Amino acid sequence: MEPILTERRDGILRIEFNRPEKKNAITAAMYAVIADALTGAERDAGVRVILLHGNFAGFTAGNDLQDFLANPPRNEHAPAFRFLAAMRDASKPVIAALSGPAVGVGTTMLFHCDLIYAAPDTRFSLPFVNLALCPEAGSSYLLPRLAGYQRAAELLLLGEPFSAERAREIGLVNEIVPSESLLEHALGVARKLVAKPAAALRVTKSLMKQAIAERVCSVMAVETTAFGVRLDSPEAKEAFTAFLEKRQPDFSKFA
Ligand code: COA
Repeated sequence: MEPILTERRDGILRIEFNRPEKKNAITAAMYAVIADALTGAERDAGVRVILLHGNFAGFTAGNDLQDFLANPPRNEHAPAFRFLAAMRDASKPVIAALSGPAVGVGTTMLFHCDLIYAAPDTRFSLPFVNLALCPEAGSSYLLPRLAGYQRAAELLLLGEPFSAERAREIGLVNEIVPSESLLEHALGVARKLVAKPAAALRVTKSLMKQAIAERVCSVMAVETTAFGVRLDSPEAKEAFTAFLEKRQPDFSKFA
């Protein structure tokens, strides 16, 4: 089975994470597939709405940590950053339907979605600091803007998982939807959008975003550089290796 499934039907491009054996953790190859699907959707008049979702294993456990060691994304041309730029620049509405783990980029990509529905069991987390990394996807700017500085600091500095209820409270999630009807609910919303005038949707989305668009681009460029430096750090290597060896990391030897 392909780790990313795409289906284009009735105006909706569905992008599904499908690597359940690794909790849908995303490799460079998977980012490349999604980035290409998103940029293709920009040019394809037959796509009016994009829907991102996971499967029974949840949404995604974030970046594959083994792949971070093997293929670290070093600049904006790396598939991971191409994916984030494509999310940021998507002119058509993007819906996300989440359940289970939504770790790291599984949470930060939501800053570039328009409508977000989460099952009650969704576990969000931003464990960048715990992995000796730093935020990406513009989240160092967009999360404080959404949630307020102290709430953002709590989520980014402590990096502890948070619930769907908490995500709704800070404005990251539109609605909590029972697991069994999550995908049908998101598809129902997508169908409503498909029936609307596409150009009006695009201009409305662009108008809502234009005031901060330049700032988000510049923040993402700075984050990409900082992320590359962090990825190459011995602390990050210790964190990734510890996860893969199923032990706690030891950061005591690093200043
Ligand atoms: N990268 C690589 N492999 C991952 C992974 C990731 N991000 N997340 C999960 N996996 C792998 C596990 O190593 C395990 O592989 P194995 O069966 O070969 O040992 C498998 O997926 C199942 O994961 P497991 O940890 O057993 O599932 P769980 O239900 O107990 O926990 C998570 C789920 C998501 C909470 C946990 O896997 C986790 O914390 N993953 C890391 C998340 C992370 O730090 N992502 C990077 C963010 S930048």
